[in-house]
Amino acid sequence: MASFSPIDNNVGILAVEVYFPKSYVSQVDMEAANGVAAGKYTIGLGQDAMAFTGDQEDINSVALSVVHSLLEKYQIDPKEIGRLEVGTETIIDKSKSTKTVLMTLFEQSGNHDIEGATVINACYGGTAALLNALMWVDSTEWDGRYAIVVAADIAVYADGPARPTGGCGSVALLIGRDAPLKIDLRTRTTYAVHAWDFFKPNLESEYPIVNGALSQTVYLQSLDDCYTRFVQKCKEGRGEDMTTASLDHMLFHSPYNKLVQKGFGRLLFVDAWLGQGEERVAQAVQQWVAAGDIASTYEDKALEAVLKTVSVPGYKQKVALACELSKQIGNTYTASVYLNLANLVSAAGDSLVGQKVALYSYGSGSLASMFAIVPRISTSHRFSLGKMQSALDLPGRLARREKLTPGHLAAALAAREAAHGQAPFAPTFTPDSLFPGTYYLKQINALQEREYARKPLA
Ligand code: ACO
Repeated sequence: MASFSPIDNNVGILAVEVYFPKSYVSQVDMEAANGVAAGKYTIGLGQDAMAFTGDQEDINSVALSVVHSLLEKYQIDPKEIGRLEVGTETIIDKSKSTKTVLMTLFEQSGNHDIEGATVINACYGGTAALLNALMWVDSTEWDGRYAIVVAADIAVYADGPARPTGGCGSVALLIGRDAPLKIDLRTRTTYAVHAWDFFKPNLESEYPIVNGALSQTVYLQSLDDCYTRFVQKCKEGRGEDMTTASLDHMLFHSPYNKLVQKGFGRLLFVDAWLGQGEERVAQAVQQWVAAGDIASTYEDKALEAVLKTVSVPGYKQKVALACELSKQIGNTYTASVYLNLANLVSAAGDSLVGQKVALYSYGSGSLASMFAIVPRISTSHRFSLGKMQSALDLPGRLARREKLTPGHLAAALAAREAAHGQAPFAPTFTPDSLFPGTYYLKQINALQEREYARKPLA
């Protein structure tokens, strides 16, 4: 039985900002351009569109854009920050961390006393950074300053079936006590295992090696395990009987929406496995529960079809809303699940107060965690769900994007391939195609040092 501190600091997320590129391509256009059957990407993968960028943005600029915007929108004095931690798997330097590049935003304030570094583990790095920051803010050593957690990635794949599951984006989370999005650390569960499902051993290329089928299986196995113990911990830590039915919103790591749909179906299956949840689901899956062999269920297409049917109403009610943004942007690796959280806040704002939310984060290799989020009213007036909702302006920003063609996507990816490892280097794409306020790579000098600039806001 776990024992927990009697003091509840309500640690969690005070504010959230999101960045995604202005350019996107529609999945319908990609189906046509790639000569695959209609519906393969839109229904088969469940994606609507994919954000992309050229060689004028790199991981540092994508992180700079979101952190600068967070500081600006919430009028945060850089001196108020005591920890800055980045999760990313878009690696452009084996030593110099993106966190240290972000320190340029703190230069003028003279604040150099900022802990934290860059954390790497595929799509899980943002969650590792978040847990570190939460633990610091919750600890007796906390000095009263805020933490910023950045999750950022440029997800690109070699030509082939994985390419439509790319994307690009970043999220910055302001972390502190008395938070409107409290993270209930007592409920957190983690599942870590050694798997070769997705990895990037070739440092000459941005593209990963992917075993797509294995990555889906490990994602679902990790989900089952995290959820089973999450149910136990909700009972032990909060005295609560947790089932999928009692959750208002479930947030998933979203490489592509079809996997999220399958993930939600799996939660219903685990409920039945645990002897809880809805009777209609228990009846539909009773033969698999009675067989008692969970390992054989992950690639069982008959069970998948049953779960697909029984999960439709719950998916629409508890999952679909949060996924709207990631369906438009694509996979943003570390940022993906926090993009869903941002979209939920953007859509629901203060009405989330009192609702039950859980989050599942997965990173290949693999590491996964689940925890409960408790939307609440902060006693300070500085941060609230309503403020986050208006500051995010997600519908407006999505509407201001520019739809380009699969030919443009191919040209952007070719430019990124050609740019990889080049020095000296000047980007071939200009800042014209970026939103106002976006950082971009100005040049890389002969010593491989990168210089950035910000496109004016107005
Ligand atoms: N209309 C509707 N559905 C279709 C159509 C069509 N015309 N054609 C195919 N489909 C369906 C298939 O039936 C299949 O559905 P299912 O998953 O329900 O069985 C689905 O589309 C995918 O098609 P497949 O042929 O099975 O797979 P594909 O070769 O297209 O590859 C994959 C998909 C594996 C997801 C690939 O894009 C990939 O490797 N992506 C990267 C890996 C990834 O994101 N893994 C997730 C976790 S790790 C991470 O986050 C990076």
